Amino acid sequence: MAHVYLTRPLGEVVDQYSSAFGSREVRIHPDTEFPPPREELLKAVAGAEALITTVTDRIDEEVFDAAGDQLKVVANVAVGYDNIDLEAAAARGITVTNTPGVLDEAVADLTLGLMLATTRRVVEADRFLRTGREWIWGPQGYVGLDISAGASLGIVGLGRIGMAVAKRAQAFGMKIVATGSRATSEEAQQLGVIPAASVAELLPQVDVLSLHCPLTEENRHLIGAAQLQSMKPGSYLINTARGPLVDEKALVAALNSGHLAGAGLDVHEFEPQTDPQLREMEQVVMLPHIGSAGGATRRKMATLALDNVLAVLNGEQPPTPVR
Ligand code: DGY
Repeated sequence: MAHVYLTRPLGEVVDQYSSAFGSREVRIHPDTEFPPPREELLKAVAGAEALITTVTDRIDEEVFDAAGDQLKVVANVAVGYDNIDLEAAAARGITVTNTPGVLDEAVADLTLGLMLATTRRVVEADRFLRTGREWIWGPQGYVGLDISAGASLGIVGLGRIGMAVAKRAQAFGMKIVATGSRATSEEAQQLGVIPAASVAELLPQVDVLSLHCPLTEENRHLIGAAQLQSMKPGSYLINTARGPLVDEKALVAALNSGHLAGAGLDVHEFEPQTDPQLREMEQVVMLPHIGSAGGATRRKMATLALDNVLAVLNGEQPPTPVR
């Protein structure tokens, strides 16, 4: 009997679907912290009709071969799907789905949090206080960037998440410059977004750069040495999208030279590895890819992935296929 395989436990919401899956067994990799090692994944997918995966699972030819011809759907519990070989899936008629729309607000909240933490040196100040060293309020103490004093924000990728970030930034009084599919939309105009024709045009104009585009083969290292150099001296980089969009070697150099004042990174070029030099820098705030980690958001992501699987197994159009 074919089964549904989840590479991570997704909480109680899964129990509500077990009867909907009929006689198919639901098998779940039990470790909440780590995904199945490759060997285990390849064994576990054998005979599966559906896979429910996350950004940490590389889903490619090898996995499809190991699964077998009955595999119908891969439902990624993420809006991004750069971990899945779409061509290989399409060639085998396997549907791939993602979870757009349900995590925009959570990622935008975290983006603003990371931006404030970085520009106002929150983590650096927290670390200082924990040393127990003598201190007293001072006019020069932990001075950072006033984002509400007309600072400009560059959004690369004004899609759903970028727009949610723009709304928040507008409430802070930031000037917003953006590239992306919605940069010239009416909604963007109402937020006062200034559309930029290209990333190159946007970079020299902004105090804070925030990335919100998907990772593709074309935009790996979208932000490298030349791009960082073209940014304003004393500006900041925030990345809650995908690590490989940024060349971390070049980022280290830009931070070391003082050209960039700081960086807030929720995602990392060689995730789950983090750069040892970046780890040493006080002006860098690093998070372990928690953009969508709101309780309600994660439940919605799991539910949407399960709905996608159910639809495909029932021969219906899934709610959010990757096209
Ligand atoms: C996504 O949805 O793509 C995130 O990076 C994982 O939460």
